[in-house]
Amino acid sequence: MKMKSENMTAPHIEEAEIERQRLLCDTIEKELFSRGFGKERRPGYYIQTFGCQQNEADSERMAGIAWMMGYRPVSDPAAAELILINTCAIREHAEKKALSIIGTYKHVKDKNPGVIIGVGGCMVAQKHRADQLKNSYPYVNFSFDPGALHLLPELIYHALTGGKRRFVSSDTYAVAEGLPTHQKQSFKAWLSIMYGCNNFCSYCIVPYVRGRERSRTPEAILEEARRLIDGGARDITLLGQNVNSYGKDIGSMDIAALMRQICALPGDFRLRFMTSHPKDASDALIAAMAEEEKIVPHFHLPVQSGSDTILRRMNRKYTAQEYLRIIDKLKSSVPDVSLTSDIIVGFPGETDADFQETLDMLAAVEYDAIFSFIYSPRKGTPAATMEGQIPREVSSRRFEQLLSLQHDISRARNQRFVGRTIRALCEEVSKTDPDKMTARSDSPRPIHFENNKGVPVGEYCNLEIVSADTFSLYGELK
Ligand code: 5AD
Ligand code: SF4
Repeated sequence: MKMKSENMTAPHIEEAEIERQRLLCDTIEKELFSRGFGKERRPGYYIQTFGCQQNEADSERMAGIAWMMGYRPVSDPAAAELILINTCAIREHAEKKALSIIGTYKHVKDKNPGVIIGVGGCMVAQKHRADQLKNSYPYVNFSFDPGALHLLPELIYHALTGGKRRFVSSDTYAVAEGLPTHQKQSFKAWLSIMYGCNNFCSYCIVPYVRGRERSRTPEAILEEARRLIDGGARDITLLGQNVNSYGKDIGSMDIAALMRQICALPGDFRLRFMTSHPKDASDALIAAMAEEEKIVPHFHLPVQSGSDTILRRMNRKYTAQEYLRIIDKLKSSVPDVSLTSDIIVGFPGETDADFQETLDMLAAVEYDAIFSFIYSPRKGTPAATMEGQIPREVSSRRFEQLLSLQHDISRARNQRFVGRTIRALCEEVSKTDPDKMTARSDSPRPIHFENNKGVPVGEYCNLEIVSADTFSLYGELK
């Protein structure tokens, strides 16, 4: 049997290939400048992102590449010379939304035939969707799936110089190191530590569109963490579709050890991670959360359903009892831990009794918040062809019932912060009132407050929590 050794690595895109793409960025910049653009008059790029934090992180890479090619961000697609749409495939609704937005860009192209339109993300990793773009959206210049993100310079260069439309998919899904990033906010950073998923939950499209698990090396991650912290990052979220199985594919340190090493880096920052699978919620990870001050005591641990029958059909590899044991461990090891979850209602075969067990799970765990979804059949996944598909009216009714219970739980849970003074990071100024601000701390809920001391975005402040409702906490500056 082949043993995993310390220096195993996931397949990587060769450095020479990344370098080739970087050089193309320079070529594109020259080409753009020869067309009348310049450092003082950069052409605009507009990136629209759908879906999860992994897509947010990928969009920051796209922005980094666009910036390197001489583009600047614009907030109106009509003013852009480059439009990139980063799509999601997790539910049908996400695909429909993306397709309808892409549809509206026809008018942008009519007005400015030179605009380059590219579509990336999980939706286009499905052949039928890439074909649909090719056949029904003739103004789209190219598509590239998440494994082909590093080819963006080549695709843009090709489109810019009048090449044919291209629809690229990656079969290799190798890790690409060394791509530039342009963070939306320097104090808040996504740090992808692994890509893909091996779990094949029976409803989920992710393993088909993002490939198998590939961990980055601890060295590459630590180097990026250092760079982010030096650049002012105060809130770093480690990302992966199944982030707590980090390292298993390369036989390296696990996520707990990795997080401890990141925490040991000097700097005033906090560390989060998502998304975790209960089967990999190890004692070591719980201990790291309990002991490391920089790790935010918030565990997003999707349960999906409270029924063992449904969990088995979902291929989740744990029972409700086993899940609750992890929750007990978390609650007893990490004082005042915040818990959140993803729940799917209306999975094929879900009976009223199964659904009741999900409600019981919510009541037993007392999550701070949940992200709940009505089951959406995804082409090519086992659940899509399972018997017992649930009529929409039934799913919708269950969904409402679930939300109503969770709202009561959230409202009650949020009260525990009232009266406490907590250190929080100021994240944004209210869009409607410049004197109001939103900050974030250990709770997944935003804290709203009157900024009467002029605390800048990206700085910490101390807030006394004076009240709380279902979705928010309200504080006063101390
Ligand atoms: N239908 C509904 N929800 C889904 N999710 C994943 N696939 C589906 C689907 N086919 C939900 C899961 C997952 C979250 C990111 O999206 O709850 O944890
Ligand atoms: Fe999808 Fe399951 Fe993998 Fe999460 S763990 S990405 S739900 S297959």
